[in-house]
Amino acid sequence: MKKNILFLIIFLLAGIFTTNAQKTLDKKVDTLLSRMTLDEKIGQMTQVDYDAIKKNVDDIVKYSIGSILCGGNSEPEDITAKGWADLYDKYQNMALRTRLRIPIIWGIDAVHGHNNVDGATIFPHNVGLGATHNPKLIEQVAAVTAAEIKGTGMQWDFAPCVAVARNEKWGRTYESYGENPDLVKMLGAAYVNGMQGKNLAGKTSVLACVKHFVGDGGTTNGKDQGDTEVDEETLRKIHLQGYVEAIKAGAKSIMVSYNSWNGEKLHGHKYLLTDVLKGELDFKGFVVSDWAAIDQLGKDYKSDIEKSINSGLDMIMIPNAPGQDNNYVDFITKLKELVNENKVPLSKIDDAVRRILKVKFELGLFKNPMTDKNLTAQIGSKKHREVARDAVRQSLVLLKNDNKVLPISKNLKRIHVTGKSADDIGNQCGGWTISWQSKSGNVISGGTTILQAIKNTVSKSTEVTTSTDGSGAEGADVCVVVVGETPYAEMLGDREDLSLAKEDVTAIEKARASGVPVVVLLISGRPMLIEPSLNISNAFVAAWLPGTEGQGIADVLFGDFKPVGKLPHSWPKNMQQIPINVGDANYDPLFPYGFGLTY
Ligand code: BGC
Ligand code: BGC
Repeated sequence: MKKNILFLIIFLLAGIFTTNAQKTLDKKVDTLLSRMTLDEKIGQMTQVDYDAIKKNVDDIVKYSIGSILCGGNSEPEDITAKGWADLYDKYQNMALRTRLRIPIIWGIDAVHGHNNVDGATIFPHNVGLGATHNPKLIEQVAAVTAAEIKGTGMQWDFAPCVAVARNEKWGRTYESYGENPDLVKMLGAAYVNGMQGKNLAGKTSVLACVKHFVGDGGTTNGKDQGDTEVDEETLRKIHLQGYVEAIKAGAKSIMVSYNSWNGEKLHGHKYLLTDVLKGELDFKGFVVSDWAAIDQLGKDYKSDIEKSINSGLDMIMIPNAPGQDNNYVDFITKLKELVNENKVPLSKIDDAVRRILKVKFELGLFKNPMTDKNLTAQIGSKKHREVARDAVRQSLVLLKNDNKVLPISKNLKRIHVTGKSADDIGNQCGGWTISWQSKSGNVISGGTTILQAIKNTVSKSTEVTTSTDGSGAEGADVCVVVVGETPYAEMLGDREDLSLAKEDVTAIEKARASGVPVVVLLISGRPMLIEPSLNISNAFVAAWLPGTEGQGIADVLFGDFKPVGKLPHSWPKNMQQIPINVGDANYDPLFPYGFGLTY
């Protein structure tokens, strides 16, 4: 009884303390806002890509720019951690020369680790994290990613993507945790927790940006940036859940999606952005546009700006430099005109700026705007890579294991490793690695390919032979064939046909013809059509896009860890079945959602 009263008192005191802290914060924000000119306010709402402003760095001061991002292809010349940290510090120093010394908030797509930085730890893409079904692990993954982001000064990650990918033709399927809203909301919230830490102002805390609001994974035919043609109940039940849960977890920024909902683009959707998100869901953070996305709204840029801001956007992401269409100077000029013409109410501007400033205070940006160099040194550290390796182990889904081919003994006489992705870190990482689309080959320093990992794991007396085309397995004890997709991102990954590439089918056939037991590892951002290759393989593993830590794959292949991954997608038999999702009527997949063998 006494204990209960004590708890009650502590609870009440904590409540009073938080409300007081909130009041102090609101006051700080209001005081700062009251000192700002309209130009300075509009500057806060302007997010410019580094590429667009690098030739006119003084524009940061001239226009009181509030935010910078680096898109998938914008980067400093020196892409090491130090190069990135120097770039950040240089630009932040510019911002601190503005009249009110309001720091820049810097956004980046660290969507599977801090993936633009050479030498960073690259984690499995979200589809692989989805296969782990493990929120504790995802929290750790996000915390390590946050620490690496902070190592380059930045404090805002355009992640997690809480898309619920309902159609595997979609090129962004791998950015989604899976087809099931329950899985997505659980892991999305875990990511927010790990990224933002206990306190947004923490040394290694980073602001999460939940994206892309809303329905990006539900477009007709899986078309990127397409139209999500579903009724409101479905939109809420499937696509909104990730946001509900992320907001509960404390998410303070949300990115709007390129897609439309029943023909109406989200960037101009007042009902969803203002009534549902800010009203009903009581979202108190700020809403940012996607890359040049408002440009798609209407007949001219000025009306695009008017519509998007009045619909509920607080910050606009602008990739264009002066001289190009719809650049940041255009945006600033036109938004100011709109306010002066009473087409955008000043109250809307004030609300947007209040939301942005509040987050900047909460991040502790005013106190600690510069890079913590101790963190720079930890990018790609052994400790960080161990977390990624664990994520890889837990993400593997064993689809077939006839005659217990797996686990492989470390003491065999000879193991043959083949297939185009056996020794290819670029294929292992997938899109959004160093560049937007990324590519095959040596795209990033550090990390371990699957072939290297196998060599690291077997006994001294085991011979590992290799080829890339499936040939040469004759006489070996087992043959591991690594095949699958090559890197892509966004709309460039949309596919009408998810068959394995011809060279992959041939490699598996050749391996089979050698008479040696065949273990296939599929590197892909989504389920693919694997019959009849599956039938001629003895074991088959869906390895998704595992990232730099290939050692995690060898850990499972050789039995140091048992497979625990379960499918985050229903696995289709053929293209005609797509879209196929758990809960469908006449559900008849090749492997059901949640499937996964072990040993
Ligand atoms: C993507 C976003 C990304 C943004 C910035 C857009 O094309 O849709 O996911 O955060 O670019 O790079
Ligand atoms: C950028 C990406 C962006 C994409 C949008 C690319 O050039 O680097 O960040 O998402 O364009 O189309």
